[in-house]
Amino acid sequence: MSSPLSPDESPAPARETLKDALKRPLHDLRISLLDRCNFRCPYCMPESEFHADYEFLTRANRLTHGEILKVASVATSLGVSKLRITGGEPLLDKKLPDLVAGLAALPGVDDLAMTTNAMLLAPIAETLQQAGLHRVTISLDSLDPDVFKTMSGGRGDLATVLDGIAAAEAAGLSPIKINVVVQRGVNDHTVLDLLEHFRGSGHIVRLIEFMDVGNRNGWQMQQVVPSRELLKMVGARWPLRPVGRNYPGEVARRYEYVDGAGEIGFISSVTEPFCGSCSRARLSADGTLYTCLFATHGTDLREPLRNGADDEELTDILSQIWLQRADRYSELRKPEVAAHHSLSKVEMYRIGG
Ligand code: GTP
Ligand code: 5AD
Ligand code: SF4
Ligand code: SF4
Repeated sequence: MSSPLSPDESPAPARETLKDALKRPLHDLRISLLDRCNFRCPYCMPESEFHADYEFLTRANRLTHGEILKVASVATSLGVSKLRITGGEPLLDKKLPDLVAGLAALPGVDDLAMTTNAMLLAPIAETLQQAGLHRVTISLDSLDPDVFKTMSGGRGDLATVLDGIAAAEAAGLSPIKINVVVQRGVNDHTVLDLLEHFRGSGHIVRLIEFMDVGNRNGWQMQQVVPSRELLKMVGARWPLRPVGRNYPGEVARRYEYVDGAGEIGFISSVTEPFCGSCSRARLSADGTLYTCLFATHGTDLREPLRNGADDEELTDILSQIWLQRADRYSELRKPEVAAHHSLSKVEMYRIGG
């Protein structure tokens, strides 16, 4: 018969055992490095609000790389194996390669990705790969120069973005994914051209339903093009067949072109929510941990970090947050009433999607 263990001898919890109130494990940590961006996509950071006088977080208010690494390290000890660096625009952080190297060295990280608009990617892609970044996802809503210009708030240059994608490919930051937020009447008529461009390139285009994230993008259900409609449109041009998920909790539904030209994904968070398998936590640039993209509040980690919390205390804080988590915003909300939700959701540019 085995003797009861004293608290000190109790076995360390297995990496996979931390489950939230709905039995979902903690697998991903999405890290927003800063709230600034060199674009002004109207659905994310409309120029009218994010003008020259807008007060972004100061450097002192943002987590340092050391603080981010501390949180990420604790998260990996609790089962996180997938890290995504986001912004705003993460490439505005000039010391990004150092952070990438630190994150890549954490034990248990088997996927280290970054979401970027790729304007600043070409010169640094190789350095990032050498620092340990595995892959990049590029936000690119249209290849029509006028539509692209409008959707980047007049700030983007298409040729530069395409150079960035080419540099990422040359550096081996693949598979490269291209995120396209589809808005009815804005860029839906340019989707097929974009797909045609990337067919056969090995890059995976994902068509994303426009979501009611944040409070400033004036979201309306009429602007959403449901994935099933897009699937029909794309399938009529190039026959598609479904492919299984890469991993549990993957947000994109995967399809492949029957003619062998590669893969395409559909992200249907409005019409077919996927909260049931949501394993993502989000760390904002000011050190707030959110457990849902649509959260109205999060938990401040910056104060404990700056008050000298050690790994054990941080582990405790993170575990408690996750154990109590019951978020399933997209499943609960009805699209037709979402526009009337309270105006206090966290903004997309603060948590990077
Ligand atoms: P992979 O790791 O390549 O599968 O990427 P990902 O789908 O996890 O992340 P990405 O940053 O490319 O997100 C694609 C789109 O899905 C963006 O519009 C995100 O905002 C959205 N998205 C990602 N995670 C969630 C989520 O947990 N809930 C909702 N509602 N949308 C999400
Ligand atoms: N709905 C859907 N996707 C969005 N993104 C930004 N805002 C929205 C929105 N309202 C996308 C970006 C980026 C990803 C992280 O989230 O294009 O690729
Ligand atoms: Fe910047 Fe991405 Fe927001 Fe566009 S969607 S403003 S690129 S953070
Ligand atoms: Fe996860 Fe919240 Fe998105 Fe649902 S709405 S999938 S709980 S982030």
